[in-house]
Amino acid sequence: MRKVSIIGAGNVGSEAARYLAHKGIAEVVLLDIVEGIAKGKALDIWHSGPIIPSTTVIHGTKDYELIKDSDVVIITAGRPRKPGMSREELLKVNFDIVSSVSENVKKYAPNAVVIVVTNPLDAMVYTAYRVTGFPKKRVMGMAGLLDSSRFAAFIAMELGVSAADVRAMVLGTHGDLMVPVMRFTSINGLPATMFISEERMKEIIKRTQKAGGEIVGLMGTSAWFAPGDAAGLMAEAVILDTNRVLPASVYLEGEYGINGVFVGVPIVLGEGGIKRILEVELTDEELEALRRSAEHVKKLQEQVDALMG
Ligand code: APR
Repeated sequence: MRKVSIIGAGNVGSEAARYLAHKGIAEVVLLDIVEGIAKGKALDIWHSGPIIPSTTVIHGTKDYELIKDSDVVIITAGRPRKPGMSREELLKVNFDIVSSVSENVKKYAPNAVVIVVTNPLDAMVYTAYRVTGFPKKRVMGMAGLLDSSRFAAFIAMELGVSAADVRAMVLGTHGDLMVPVMRFTSINGLPATMFISEERMKEIIKRTQKAGGEIVGLMGTSAWFAPGDAAGLMAEAVILDTNRVLPASVYLEGEYGINGVFVGVPIVLGEGGIKRILEVELTDEELEALRRSAEHVKKLQEQVDALMG
């Protein structure tokens, strides 16, 4: 049986665990420094097995020995946002957590594909990349899929159509500078721009860019269902080698004219990690926005470099 380990059994980690356990495609290990949380949530998820039904074996632990030979490791350990906070304000505190987690991933799961969820996303993926020293095809961040799903959900809401029929693509960094690309939205292949005015689309884009903050404002902490499910889907793509096409934060070396930065672009995801980075033609305006995202991440990566010494 393949193995997916999830570090951080908080809100996002446990939803990713629930998604994967219910799919029945891999053994799941849920690890947290607070052992009771990891053990309790793993048991709770296992208890739903007969109802779903699902045969997945799921362990809760604080012991890194259990993540040995993982095919995928999802990192969600770290602080979430509080109301009024930007993701970037979490950099220092979450750097300490993600770097110590990454040391353990390197030691106990040296062949794993790593999917980082902790914020500020692109800077934390860079941290995991530097600390593990894993090849770039095995280290990525989950954000583009979540942002795209949020964009698609808002379009579905606007048109009163099934969310399952809406496709959308959000590039760039996971923050206010993200780049939802209007041209790449469709209702089952029909361009969404045929049904939504440009003005209204711009409002939907603004809401997408602030969607995480909207939820933090409503509940006092950050979202977990869609983020956890998105991380779960990415792990599933690797385990089942599905070659899903989705945006993820990956290390660019020249693609889109960007160098040495983690930023969200479309990839083909399957066994072994990133199989291909898809370089699609962008308008000058879209490319400019993507590069602005990359400039922003570059500054955060410099902060990470300074913290690493
Ligand atoms: N090792 C393992 N687990 C840790 C560590 C560590 N060094 N430090 C913290 N944790 C655990 C906490 O004990 C907690 O259970 O990480 C978990 C985080 O869970 P929540 O506080 O519920 O946060 P969550 O909403 O899951 O968000 C986690 O993902 O989306 C991002 O912005 C979000 O950075 C945040 C992260």
